[in-house]
Amino acid sequence: MKAIRIHRFNDEPRLEDIPAPGIGPDQVLVRVDAAALNPLDALVVSGVARHFFDIALPITLGTDFAGTIERVGMAVTGWSVGDRVICWADAGTGGGFAERAAVPADACVPLPPGLSAAEGAAIPTAGITAWHALFSAAGLKPGETVLVHAGAGGVGSFAIQFAHKAGARVIATASGDGVELARSLGADEVVDYRTQDFAAAVSGVDVVLDLVGGETQTRSYAVLRTGGRMVSTAMLPDEAIGKDRGITASMFYAKPYADRLGELVDAIAQQGVKVVIDRHVPIGSFNEAWARLTSGKARGKIVVSCAPGH
Ligand SMILES: NC(=O)c1ccc[n+]([C@@H]2O[C@H](COP(=O)([O-])OP(=O)(O)OC[C@H]3O[C@@H](n4cnc5c(N)ncnc54)[C@H](OP(=O)(O)O)[C@@H]3O)[C@@H](O)[C@H]2O)c1
Repeated sequence: MKAIRIHRFNDEPRLEDIPAPGIGPDQVLVRVDAAALNPLDALVVSGVARHFFDIALPITLGTDFAGTIERVGMAVTGWSVGDRVICWADAGTGGGFAERAAVPADACVPLPPGLSAAEGAAIPTAGITAWHALFSAAGLKPGETVLVHAGAGGVGSFAIQFAHKAGARVIATASGDGVELARSLGADEVVDYRTQDFAAAVSGVDVVLDLVGGETQTRSYAVLRTGGRMVSTAMLPDEAIGKDRGITASMFYAKPYADRLGELVDAIAQQGVKVVIDRHVPIGSFNEAWARLTSGKARGKIVVSCAPGH
């Protein structure tokens, strides 16, 4: 079968022909229709992700994917051959950018009929991160104002919609055509960060969702109200900054919350949340998808078709 692999850290990910994986008693074999890229894939390739995950090389990349169950391990209950699923694999084992993937059965949730495989594959890391960073970590409430940095990206495009639908006032940063995208997703105000200083344009917000890090993060303390909250997915915040104003700052790390993923997927399908797809390329054009990911300019999610024939 075809699979996107690296053999050493810092290898360029390459399309290879390898045997389909076997499955353990607690696993299912999924015929993958679509898999989505995340910045985490680049951290696996560079080896930085070694600090958080046990990565066994060579590895088939891909944590987020969707397809159809083809085989079921002996100890698995609740899943049958033919079930359509969304899967969220551990980054240390990956497996999604391939025609077939072996995953623990509890890393799968049903793919609702209203979502395509590409949409389903796009949800796990970005959707769960947006949801839990906003509501579990930052405790965003209806009527509050949130500044979502990188509102046009994979996590940001979900975060704007979740916050808007939850009754928050949403300010986003984006640039170029990302400004219109962020507005169309429900942002009340969008700051084009390339032409405008967001720190001068925004003040008194309750929550900052920092999806960028660096100077964007350090300059964001100033836009928070006294007692405001910052949550970052991109860089460990310095809790000392803003402490005198009662500002709390924390880092959010997504973990496969498989039970919550099912609830989130259902909410996305039922509430008409738009799964924004930057591009959807065949596995043979993985290099194009990879270049787009590493450019840091994606509008929503980058998806790869893995079904044979692509
Ligand atoms: N800790 C965790 O568990 C976790 C989970 C998921 C993601 N993350 C991290 O969260 C970050 C976002 O992830 P993602 O999947 O959303 O990435 P992404 O889709 O690759 O983000 C791309 C977007 O970022 C925007 N952007 C870049 N620099 C910006 C800036 N200075 N201000 C505003 N927008 C900017 C780009 O817009 P322009 O083209 O207009 O610049 C583009 O739309 C990444 O650092 C990722 O590693 C962490």
